[in-house]
Amino acid sequence: MRHLMSPLDLSVEELYDLLALANDIEQNPGKYAHACDGQKLATCFYEPSTRTRLSFEAAMLNLGGSVLGFASADSSSAAKGESVSDTIRVISCYADICAIRHPKEGAALVASSKSSIPVINAGDGGHQHPTQTLTDLLTIYSLKGRLNGLTIGLCGDLKFGRTVHSLIHALIRYSGIRFVLISPEELKIPSYIREDVLKRNNVPFTELERLEDAMPELDILYMTRVQKERFFNEEDYVRMKDFYILTKDKLTLAKEDMLVLHPLPRVNEISVEVDDDPRAVYFKQAQYGVYVRMALILTLLKWR
Ligand code: NCD
Repeated sequence: MRHLMSPLDLSVEELYDLLALANDIEQNPGKYAHACDGQKLATCFYEPSTRTRLSFEAAMLNLGGSVLGFASADSSSAAKGESVSDTIRVISCYADICAIRHPKEGAALVASSKSSIPVINAGDGGHQHPTQTLTDLLTIYSLKGRLNGLTIGLCGDLKFGRTVHSLIHALIRYSGIRFVLISPEELKIPSYIREDVLKRNNVPFTELERLEDAMPELDILYMTRVQKERFFNEEDYVRMKDFYILTKDKLTLAKEDMLVLHPLPRVNEISVEVDDDPRAVYFKQAQYGVYVRMALILTLLKWR
């Protein structure tokens, strides 16, 4: 049995197989409509979510399976003080596979250690968000045709943004990847990623503050929301929240075939006028999230 805590839990080969399966699911949905008949997915969400939880549920329903779960800590026994370990032991009796989101880093790992069913980390605090990364990789792979030889700009809250942390981990395994890390000083990438992930693996990167300076060289621009819920005080958040706003004007500096990704939810960091630009693919990206989660559920249940 395998769990998914980080995108690195899949080898490069396994990941290509997963993306190929997701592409096949997109092309031939009917072929998979009963692949999980009689099986159940539990979604245990201790933190707010729209896309991740609903795309997991849609994925399992598309496969013919069923779903159960809770959408907030308040509506589960966590509100009575139950531990994640105890909850997952019980969920293991009710479902065949589980996706868990929790505000504490490492919570999914704790759950996986007590679980008798595959556990998928659907976001653990500011740490990792591997299924968003699978979504991002499928989007890039499907629309660019490759995962190597790309200059990728990551913009916004690089300190607390778990989607950014997971995406960097996943992409350093491909050749010719270069990162441009665009953030205000206070929201720079954590030093463990700069030192232990980027420098240690000799991955080229630059850090800068102005989005306009980075724009012309980018193949991918990955925008992120300032992670309000991870700030220690409201004042700092208010000061940072509108630091970047991608507008049509700024987009004129970009390559014709650059892609704009965003894990969503968007707040103000991409102006709605950008949505009509063919380079804006964040809503398509949300659709890819369903295919890749279908592929992941199928794969983990097969390995069980
Ligand atoms: C992200 C998350 O939860 O980390 N959302 C998502 O899953 N698509 C990004 C965010 O909340 O900013």
